[in-house]
Amino acid sequence: MGSDVRKNLIAGNWKMHATHLDAIQMVQKLSYRLDHGDYERVEVLVCPPFTSLRSVQTVIETDHLSIKLGAQNVNPNDQGAFTGEISPAMLAKLSVSYVIVGHSERRQLFGESDAFINQKMRSVFDAGMTPILCVGETEAERDEGSAMDRVGSQVAAGIAGLSDEELGRLVVAYEPIWAIGTGKTASADDADEMCGFVRSQVGAASSEAAERTRVLYGGSVNPGNIAGLMAKRDIDGGLVGGASLDPDQFASVVRYWM
Ligand code: PGA
Repeated sequence: MGSDVRKNLIAGNWKMHATHLDAIQMVQKLSYRLDHGDYERVEVLVCPPFTSLRSVQTVIETDHLSIKLGAQNVNPNDQGAFTGEISPAMLAKLSVSYVIVGHSERRQLFGESDAFINQKMRSVFDAGMTPILCVGETEAERDEGSAMDRVGSQVAAGIAGLSDEELGRLVVAYEPIWAIGTGKTASADDADEMCGFVRSQVGAASSEAAERTRVLYGGSVNPGNIAGLMAKRDIDGGLVGGASLDPDQFASVVRYWM
Protein backbone atom coordinates (compact mmCIF):
# COMPACT_ATOMS: atom_id res chain seq x y z
CA MET A 1 0.00 0.00 0.00
CA GLY A 2 2.74 2.40 0.96
CA SER A 3 1.73 6.04 0.63
CA ASP A 4 0.93 8.62 -2.04
CA VAL A 5 4.37 10.18 -1.73
CA ARG A 6 6.12 6.85 -2.30
CA LYS A 7 5.90 5.10 -5.66
CA ASN A 8 5.86 1.32 -5.38
CA LEU A 9 9.03 -0.37 -6.57
CA ILE A 10 9.35 -4.00 -7.65
CA ALA A 11 13.00 -4.91 -8.17
CA GLY A 12 14.32 -8.13 -9.68
CA ASN A 13 17.68 -9.29 -8.31
CA TRP A 14 18.94 -11.82 -10.85
CA LYS A 15 22.02 -12.66 -8.76
CA MET A 16 24.57 -14.77 -10.70
CA HIS A 17 22.11 -15.99 -13.30
CA ALA A 18 21.75 -15.44 -17.06
CA THR A 19 24.32 -14.78 -19.78
CA HIS A 20 23.91 -11.52 -21.66
CA LEU A 21 21.99 -13.41 -24.36
CA ASP A 22 19.58 -14.85 -21.78
CA ALA A 23 19.23 -11.40 -20.24
CA ILE A 24 18.15 -9.81 -23.52
CA GLN A 25 15.39 -12.39 -23.88
CA MET A 26 14.31 -12.04 -20.26
CA VAL A 27 13.87 -8.29 -20.41
CA GLN A 28 12.09 -8.47 -23.78
CA LYS A 29 9.70 -11.13 -22.50
CA LEU A 30 9.04 -9.08 -19.38
CA SER A 31 8.26 -6.01 -21.47
CA TYR A 32 5.68 -7.93 -23.57
CA ARG A 33 3.80 -8.78 -20.37
CA LEU A 34 3.61 -5.23 -18.97
CA ASP A 35 1.82 -2.14 -20.20
CA HIS A 36 1.69 1.59 -19.58
CA GLY A 37 -0.77 1.25 -16.70
CA ASP A 38 1.57 -1.11 -14.86
CA TYR A 39 4.47 1.34 -15.06
CA GLU A 40 2.19 4.14 -13.81
CA ARG A 41 1.48 2.13 -10.72
CA VAL A 42 4.82 0.46 -10.11
CA GLU A 43 8.42 1.31 -10.88
CA VAL A 44 9.87 -1.86 -12.43
CA LEU A 45 13.57 -2.56 -12.01
CA VAL A 46 15.85 -5.39 -13.16
CA CYS A 47 19.33 -5.94 -11.70
CA PRO A 48 21.26 -8.34 -13.95
CA PRO A 49 24.93 -9.30 -13.50
CA PHE A 50 27.52 -6.74 -14.66
CA THR A 51 28.13 -8.65 -17.91
CA SER A 52 24.52 -8.09 -19.00
CA LEU A 53 24.16 -4.41 -18.13
CA ARG A 54 25.20 -3.06 -21.53
CA SER A 55 22.96 -5.49 -23.42
CA VAL A 56 19.93 -4.79 -21.24
CA GLN A 57 20.56 -1.04 -21.46
CA THR A 58 20.53 -1.31 -25.26
CA VAL A 59 17.22 -3.22 -25.28
CA ILE A 60 15.63 -0.71 -22.91
CA GLU A 61 16.79 2.28 -24.98
CA THR A 62 16.10 0.80 -28.42
CA ASP A 63 12.60 -0.39 -27.51
CA HIS A 64 11.86 2.69 -25.34
CA LEU A 65 10.95 0.50 -22.37
CA SER A 66 9.99 1.98 -19.00
CA ILE A 67 11.91 -0.75 -17.18
CA LYS A 68 14.74 0.64 -15.04
CA LEU A 69 18.23 -0.83 -14.90
CA GLY A 70 20.06 -1.65 -11.67
CA ALA A 71 23.38 -3.20 -10.63
CA GLN A 72 23.95 -5.73 -7.85
CA ASN A 73 27.13 -4.29 -6.41
CA VAL A 74 29.73 -1.54 -6.79
CA ASN A 75 33.18 -0.66 -5.54
CA PRO A 76 33.12 2.75 -3.80
CA ASN A 77 36.43 3.96 -5.28
CA ASP A 78 36.47 6.22 -8.36
CA GLN A 79 39.14 4.18 -10.16
CA GLY A 80 42.46 2.48 -9.50
CA ALA A 81 44.19 -0.80 -8.82
CA PHE A 82 41.15 -2.85 -7.74
CA THR A 83 41.32 -5.89 -9.99
CA GLY A 84 37.90 -7.28 -10.80
CA GLU A 85 35.93 -4.35 -9.38
CA ILE A 86 33.46 -1.94 -11.01
CA SER A 87 33.25 1.78 -10.18
CA PRO A 88 30.15 3.96 -9.69
CA ALA A 89 30.97 6.03 -12.81
CA MET A 90 31.16 2.87 -14.94
CA LEU A 91 27.63 1.97 -13.85
CA ALA A 92 26.22 5.49 -14.20
CA LYS A 93 27.48 5.65 -17.81
CA LEU A 94 25.39 2.55 -18.60
CA SER A 95 22.22 4.37 -17.47
CA VAL A 96 22.13 2.32 -14.28
CA SER A 97 19.81 4.12 -11.88
CA TYR A 98 19.84 1.81 -8.83
CA VAL A 99 22.58 -0.18 -7.11
CA ILE A 100 21.93 -2.96 -4.58
CA VAL A 101 24.25 -2.32 -1.64
CA GLY A 102 25.04 -4.68 1.23
CA HIS A 103 22.99 -7.67 0.12
CA SER A 104 23.18 -10.38 2.79
CA GLU A 105 25.05 -12.66 0.37
CA ARG A 106 27.76 -10.01 0.03
CA ARG A 107 27.86 -9.47 3.78
CA GLN A 108 28.06 -13.21 4.54
CA LEU A 109 30.01 -14.68 1.61
CA PHE A 110 32.31 -11.75 0.83
CA GLY A 111 32.76 -10.30 4.31
CA GLU A 112 31.39 -6.81 3.59
CA SER A 113 31.34 -4.67 6.72
CA ASP A 114 28.86 -1.96 7.67
CA ALA A 115 31.63 0.63 7.20
CA PHE A 116 32.42 -0.56 3.65
CA ILE A 117 28.70 -0.62 2.86
CA ASN A 118 28.40 2.98 4.07
CA GLN A 119 31.24 3.99 1.69
CA LYS A 120 29.32 2.35 -1.15
CA MET A 121 26.16 4.26 -0.20
CA ARG A 122 28.08 7.55 -0.38
CA SER A 123 29.65 6.64 -3.72
CA VAL A 124 26.35 5.61 -5.33
CA PHE A 125 24.69 8.92 -4.41
CA ASP A 126 27.78 10.86 -5.53
CA ALA A 127 27.51 9.23 -8.96
CA GLY A 128 23.86 10.28 -9.27
CA MET A 129 22.35 6.83 -8.70
CA THR A 130 20.11 5.49 -5.92
CA PRO A 131 21.27 2.77 -3.53
CA ILE A 132 19.03 -0.06 -2.36
CA LEU A 133 20.45 -0.76 1.10
CA CYS A 134 19.79 -4.37 2.16
CA VAL A 135 19.37 -5.23 5.82
CA GLY A 136 18.10 -8.28 7.66
CA GLU A 137 18.58 -10.63 10.58
CA THR A 138 19.60 -14.30 10.70
CA GLU A 139 17.23 -16.99 11.94
CA ALA A 140 19.22 -17.25 15.19
CA GLU A 141 18.91 -13.49 15.75
CA ARG A 142 15.16 -13.66 15.16
CA ASP A 143 14.81 -16.61 17.57
CA GLU A 144 16.76 -14.88 20.32
CA GLY A 145 14.74 -11.67 19.91
CA SER A 146 17.56 -9.49 18.57
CA ALA A 147 16.20 -8.92 15.04
CA MET A 148 15.48 -5.24 15.66
CA ASP A 149 18.89 -4.62 17.24
CA ARG A 150 20.59 -6.16 14.23
CA VAL A 151 18.50 -4.41 11.60
CA GLY A 152 18.59 -1.11 13.48
CA SER A 153 22.37 -1.10 13.59
CA GLN A 154 22.65 -2.06 9.91
CA VAL A 155 20.35 0.82 8.93
CA ALA A 156 22.12 3.35 11.17
CA ALA A 157 25.56 2.36 9.85
CA GLY A 158 24.39 2.23 6.24
CA ILE A 159 22.83 5.71 6.19
CA ALA A 160 25.44 7.50 8.32
CA GLY A 161 26.42 10.84 6.80
CA LEU A 162 23.63 11.01 4.21
CA SER A 163 21.78 14.30 3.71
CA ASP A 164 18.04 14.61 4.31
CA GLU A 165 17.50 14.85 0.56
CA GLU A 166 19.44 11.59 0.05
CA LEU A 167 17.51 9.87 2.85
CA GLY A 168 14.28 10.79 1.07
CA ARG A 169 15.51 9.20 -2.19
CA LEU A 170 16.98 6.14 -0.48
CA VAL A 171 15.52 2.65 -0.85
CA VAL A 172 15.98 0.12 1.97
CA ALA A 173 15.20 -3.57 1.46
CA TYR A 174 14.37 -5.52 4.60
CA GLU A 175 15.34 -9.11 3.82
CA PRO A 176 15.33 -11.59 6.69
CA ILE A 177 18.19 -13.96 5.83
CA TRP A 178 16.17 -17.04 6.76
CA ALA A 179 13.61 -16.12 4.09
CA ILE A 180 16.03 -15.61 1.18
CA GLY A 181 15.85 -18.39 -1.38
CA THR A 182 14.25 -20.75 1.14
CA GLY A 183 10.58 -20.50 0.19
CA LYS A 184 9.90 -19.29 3.76
CA THR A 185 8.42 -15.79 3.79
CA ALA A 186 7.93 -13.55 6.79
CA SER A 187 4.21 -13.12 7.46
CA ALA A 188 2.88 -9.89 5.98
CA ASP A 189 2.35 -8.55 9.51
CA ASP A 190 5.91 -9.38 10.63
CA ALA A 191 7.35 -7.95 7.41
CA ASP A 192 5.30 -4.77 7.88
CA GLU A 193 6.42 -4.43 11.48
CA MET A 194 10.08 -4.69 10.46
CA CYS A 195 9.66 -2.35 7.47
CA GLY A 196 7.98 0.16 9.80
CA PHE A 197 10.90 -0.25 12.18
CA VAL A 198 13.33 0.44 9.31
CA ARG A 199 11.38 3.61 8.50
CA SER A 200 11.54 4.70 12.14
CA GLN A 201 15.33 4.24 12.08
CA VAL A 202 15.58 6.50 9.02
CA GLY A 203 13.18 8.82 10.86
CA ALA A 204 15.65 9.12 13.71
CA ALA A 205 17.88 10.98 11.22
CA SER A 206 15.05 12.89 9.50
CA SER A 207 11.36 12.20 10.14
CA GLU A 208 10.37 14.25 7.11
CA ALA A 209 12.70 12.27 4.80
CA ALA A 210 11.57 8.93 6.23
CA GLU A 211 8.06 9.51 4.87
CA ARG A 212 9.62 9.49 1.39
CA THR A 213 12.09 6.63 1.92
CA ARG A 214 10.85 3.51 0.18
CA VAL A 215 11.12 0.31 2.17
CA LEU A 216 10.91 -3.00 0.30
CA TYR A 217 10.42 -6.50 1.63
CA GLY A 218 12.58 -9.29 0.21
CA GLY A 219 12.80 -13.03 0.84
CA SER A 220 10.89 -15.59 -1.25
CA VAL A 221 8.51 -13.02 -2.72
CA ASN A 222 6.33 -14.69 -5.36
CA PRO A 223 3.04 -14.13 -7.23
CA GLY A 224 1.16 -15.84 -4.39
CA ASN A 225 2.35 -13.70 -1.48
CA ILE A 226 3.03 -10.28 -3.01
CA ALA A 227 -0.53 -8.92 -2.75
CA GLY A 228 -0.67 -9.54 1.00
CA LEU A 229 2.67 -7.81 1.47
CA MET A 230 1.76 -4.83 -0.72
CA ALA A 231 -1.44 -4.27 1.28
CA LYS A 232 0.67 -3.23 4.26
CA ARG A 233 1.27 0.37 5.21
CA ASP A 234 5.04 0.36 5.47
CA ILE A 235 5.84 -1.96 2.56
CA ASP A 236 6.48 -0.02 -0.66
CA GLY A 237 7.51 -2.92 -2.87
CA GLY A 238 9.61 -6.04 -3.15
CA LEU A 239 13.16 -7.16 -3.86
CA VAL A 240 12.62 -10.38 -5.75
CA GLY A 241 15.27 -13.04 -6.40
CA GLY A 242 14.16 -16.45 -7.70
CA ALA A 243 10.78 -15.30 -9.03
CA SER A 244 12.39 -12.49 -11.05
CA LEU A 245 14.19 -14.99 -13.31
CA ASP A 246 10.95 -16.13 -14.94
CA PRO A 247 9.34 -13.24 -16.89
CA ASP A 248 5.83 -14.70 -16.38
CA GLN A 249 6.28 -14.91 -12.63
CA PHE A 250 8.01 -11.55 -12.34
CA ALA A 251 5.27 -9.84 -14.39
CA SER A 252 2.70 -11.41 -12.03
CA VAL A 253 4.58 -10.00 -9.04
CA VAL A 254 4.63 -6.54 -10.69
CA ARG A 255 0.86 -6.82 -11.36
CA TYR A 256 0.22 -7.85 -7.76
CA TRP A 257 -3.32 -6.37 -7.68
CA MET A 258 -4.59 -8.60 -10.54
P1 PGA B 1 14.63 -14.68 -3.14
O1 PGA B 1 15.85 -13.62 -3.08
O2 PGA B 1 13.43 -13.91 -3.68
O3 PGA B 1 15.08 -15.75 -4.09
O4 PGA B 1 14.39 -15.17 -1.77
C1 PGA B 1 15.65 -12.31 -2.65
C2 PGA B 1 16.98 -11.58 -2.56
O5 PGA B 1 17.96 -12.19 -2.10
O6 PGA B 1 17.09 -10.40 -2.92
